[in-house]
Amino acid sequence: MDPNTTVCAPNATISLAVIVALLEANNQGKHFSYSSKIELFALFFSIELKELEACFGGFAHYYLRKQNIRMSDHGNTLTSASANRDDFSVTFSLSDVFDIEHFVAREPELEEMCKALSSDGSRQAVVLHGLGGIGKTQLTVAYAKRHRNSYSAIFWLNINDEDSVKQSFAKMARQILRERPTAARLSSVDLSEDLDGVVDAVKSWLSLPNNTRWLAIYDNYDNPKLPGHDTDLTAVDIRIFLPESYQGSVIVTTRSSQVEMGHKIKLRKLEGLQDGLRILSNASRRQKLANDPDAVKLAQELDGLPLALATAGAYLHQVMMSFSDYLRLYKESWSRLQVTSPNLSSYEDRTLYSTWQISYEHVEQQNSLSAMLLRLWAYFDNYDLWLELL
Ligand SMILES: Nc1ncnc2c1ncn2[C@@H]1O[C@H](COP(=O)(O)OP(=O)(O)OP(=O)(O)O)[C@@H](O)[C@H]1O
Ligand SMILES: [Mg+2]
Repeated sequence: MDPNTTVCAPNATISLAVIVALLEANNQGKHFSYSSKIELFALFFSIELKELEACFGGFAHYYLRKQNIRMSDHGNTLTSASANRDDFSVTFSLSDVFDIEHFVAREPELEEMCKALSSDGSRQAVVLHGLGGIGKTQLTVAYAKRHRNSYSAIFWLNINDEDSVKQSFAKMARQILRERPTAARLSSVDLSEDLDGVVDAVKSWLSLPNNTRWLAIYDNYDNPKLPGHDTDLTAVDIRIFLPESYQGSVIVTTRSSQVEMGHKIKLRKLEGLQDGLRILSNASRRQKLANDPDAVKLAQELDGLPLALATAGAYLHQVMMSFSDYLRLYKESWSRLQVTSPNLSSYEDRTLYSTWQISYEHVEQQNSLSAMLLRLWAYFDNYDLWLELL
């Protein structure tokens, strides 16, 4: 198929319906990875139908390009201004990461990370583990922004699966070559064809003598290869993707509590009600929530789970609805889930899915094509999706 072909709207709708049905039939019981893509809901409230109709053409184009994908370099570029401009410094970019506007709380964790990563150049590692949506990625973004001047280069890798991490290495290689065109071994590797060669070349660059002040962030290490569990062929062994020499700093985020590396920090729910209210207030753009007993009740109900608070807030930003009405919808959604998804056993998952369900049903009422597109996107890693795909 010509990648530039625009699929006409009725075909796009039918094709989308067929693809979603097939994916769902083949993935019964498999959990969607929620992560920050749930917040795309907020976006969907404002998208016009005609824009969505064009999207399937965008996806066809995307599939054909996927092997040679290059993430867009829009926005959010930060420079390590006061870092020593030695031969190894590279501009820090947050272009692939969802970076929230108002980060709250987590000061003790930020301090703990800072202590654990303080180094004379020898390798230091921190593993952040905790539930999906608890705030591991955002804490890491906050750390990277706060400490960017302490590092000569900060790299962001998605280690969700082998393909993603290799693509991340290819992106790192391009970043390095853009500013260090003389990086000898890197410049001789074919960045789109020889991904294993790229991984080796980048690891060698990170192992060069004196290149000790980099920070590599391995985000989403959710399917780790663990000793004695060799049957899962999709599990990833992070050791293959770490530079050999004992230098530089590493942060790993994971939902697994079994990753043993460096200093482990378990990320818990937000304890202070005020922090929950701040997320709700920032996401809903509504003020003085502490004075509203229904807002306080909702924050208590959402129990310090950042993603649930942000999802509820995003909904309330888009829909003219009182906190008490949302609370009623939330309780109904919770009860319905008990019937429709009895195997959602954890309280936290149920909380998250209840807020998710409310937003999903609203999108579906407004535009069934948008809802179907969301169901399709649920099968993608959020790193594989960006606004320009539409
Ligand atoms: N400290 C925080 N301040 C404000 N909002 C937060 C904070 N932490 C998390 N959030 C909200 O919760 C959402 C989910 O957080 P994040 O993506 O960091 O979770 P995660 O633990 O990395 O989840 P996953 O395991 O799915 O990757 C964020 O997009 C943001 O809206
Ligand atoms: Mg994350």
